[in-house]
Amino acid sequence: MSANMKGAQDAPLTDSHNFSPTEEASGIITRNLPARATQSAHLWGLHLYEGLPKQLTTDGIFAVAASYERVHAFVAEQYEMFTEEGLGCSPNTFAQKSKQAYLSTGCDLIALTHAGRTVGIMVGAPEDWSSYYVRVFALAPDYQRPSLTRRFVRECLFEPLARHGVERVVADTNPANLAMTRLFGELGFFVTGNQLTDRWGALIRYTKFLDPACEQQFHRRFGGGAPRRKQR
Ligand SMILES: CC(C)(COP(=O)(O)OP(=O)(O)OC[C@H]1O[C@@H](n2cnc3c(N)ncnc32)[C@H](O)[C@@H]1OP(=O)(O)O)[C@@H](O)C(=O)NCCC(=O)NCCS
Repeated sequence: MSANMKGAQDAPLTDSHNFSPTEEASGIITRNLPARATQSAHLWGLHLYEGLPKQLTTDGIFAVAASYERVHAFVAEQYEMFTEEGLGCSPNTFAQKSKQAYLSTGCDLIALTHAGRTVGIMVGAPEDWSSYYVRVFALAPDYQRPSLTRRFVRECLFEPLARHGVERVVADTNPANLAMTRLFGELGFFVTGNQLTDRWGALIRYTKFLDPACEQQFHRRFGGGAPRRKQR
């Protein structure tokens, strides 16, 4: 998943990204965020933030709807090295403006929070009519733990997307990103491609089928090697 958030580096951080735990849990922030005409809403009538805030751990980590400013601040602070600028690109002013518009109005933005602090983010959007692309998924180092990430992905992404008839989730990661590669494997993603990109370098593409019929077709058409075990 290629982070690409730095285009709006001059944008004012108008929306505070430090909310009190009570505010986070109340859902007030979710309701106060301006209704956004995301691509998911436009295409599928899906608002990923509708089931949020959602408590994910007993020690108080929540998934909440996030503002662009909140997501941008997290990436700038924790993962600058994943941005195209952090990787040595210099997008022009026009591209930077379009990037901010794309990310702030078109994409779904979710934050993971703990005691008012942003500890993780997810940025995604439809890639085509039946595929959802996860552009960025990252947690602060202290909060990386498989039980949390898997629960978040299953309950806040897979389940609502599947309910809206989305057939697959796609994502890219650098082949050296072992944590991400392991996460994909455990969540049942298949390798479905590889690219050498101008901005992100080498990427492996992964696909998770949400629709069992699509997964069956995938096996029938391309899984010509070892037969699958009957009960997997
Ligand atoms: C990718 C990410 C979301 C996965 O989170 P997670 O599932 O909680 O994963 P962890 O980081 O705890 O790692 C999970 C497993 O991967 C393996 N792993 C992680 N980093 C590894 C490394 N450098 N070398 C070998 N194995 C590694 C470990 O086995 C670990 O399991 P263990 O703790 O039981 O040993 C998280 O690691 C992260 O936020 N990384 C930084 C951001 C990122 O790379 N995002 C993707 C690109 S946008």
